[in-house]
Amino acid sequence: MHEGDLWPALRGYWHPVALSEELSDRPLAVRLLGERLAVCRFNGEAAAFRDLCIHRGTPISLGWVEDERIVCAYHGWSYDGAGRCTRIPSVPPEHPIPKKAHLTAYPAQERHGMVWVCLSEAPRAEIPEFPMLEDDRFTQVVRDKRTWNCTAARAVENFLDIAHLPWIHHGILADRAKPRTPPIHLKREGDRLSFTVESAPDQTHAVSYERVYEFQRPFSVHHAKREPDGKSEIIVFVVSPTSEQACTRFTFIGRNFEAPAGGSNIEDFEEEIIEQDRVIVENQRPEELPLDLAEELHVKGPDGPALEYRRMMRELGVE
Ligand code: FES
Ligand code: FE
Repeated sequence: MHEGDLWPALRGYWHPVALSEELSDRPLAVRLLGERLAVCRFNGEAAAFRDLCIHRGTPISLGWVEDERIVCAYHGWSYDGAGRCTRIPSVPPEHPIPKKAHLTAYPAQERHGMVWVCLSEAPRAEIPEFPMLEDDRFTQVVRDKRTWNCTAARAVENFLDIAHLPWIHHGILADRAKPRTPPIHLKREGDRLSFTVESAPDQTHAVSYERVYEFQRPFSVHHAKREPDGKSEIIVFVVSPTSEQACTRFTFIGRNFEAPAGGSNIEDFEEEIIEQDRVIVENQRPEELPLDLAEELHVKGPDGPALEYRRMMRELGVE
């Protein structure tokens, strides 16, 4: 079983497709699970449509929003928020509008500074909660959206992987001279998986610290790195399954402390880490995360989160 087998189930989850600030009355073309969508602000709210005008197959994202209607760029057919065609400019107004003249509208919501879309009328879970984004003790220092040429599940598994930290992020996040993964205690509850890892001081950390991961199926993580004095850095990481070859990563980082003056710039620092991961993850084969546990090798302990992640995702494909 591979990730592609999960797509029918993944259509029932909410996925972010854009940042709130990208949303306007100019429809934005995006992709989700291989489907082309147009998202825009409509009556002040986020709206998402299949990016296809039924008249001649023109992307509706080439059009615009006017008088609470989305207007196709080619012949001006207008559609309301539910996707019903309300005007065909080339015929008199009394001319009946064909019943089939419809844009497919999908549930859309704006939350946590992102635009979320569900490709099913009956979402199977709520949009995940991210406590850091509601907590005003935290200052957001990174707000990043980018595409990676890999699947969403490969990107998430990389984020949940502990053993790579001292290895590919040596000297930045951990120390290659201290490669042992501390014990990981996993807790699974339905769509959620949480675990904590405690690390001793090393060349990259003057004091001990813990990492608390709260994953929510299929592609969301709230990660806190805490020091004993209460200093905390939180990463909200959500990956959207764009297509079979690409995913869109949303990363927000917040801190409840001021970075020391003269320290390295957080954006450059993050850029370096992301690039170290990207080179590996975009080149992993097979491209799709194997969901049969026998397909790759696992070590007991360090690979616990990845194993549980694969089990959780596999469940979606056998329901
Ligand atoms: Fe959209 Fe003709 S293709 S109005
Ligand atoms: Fe990494």
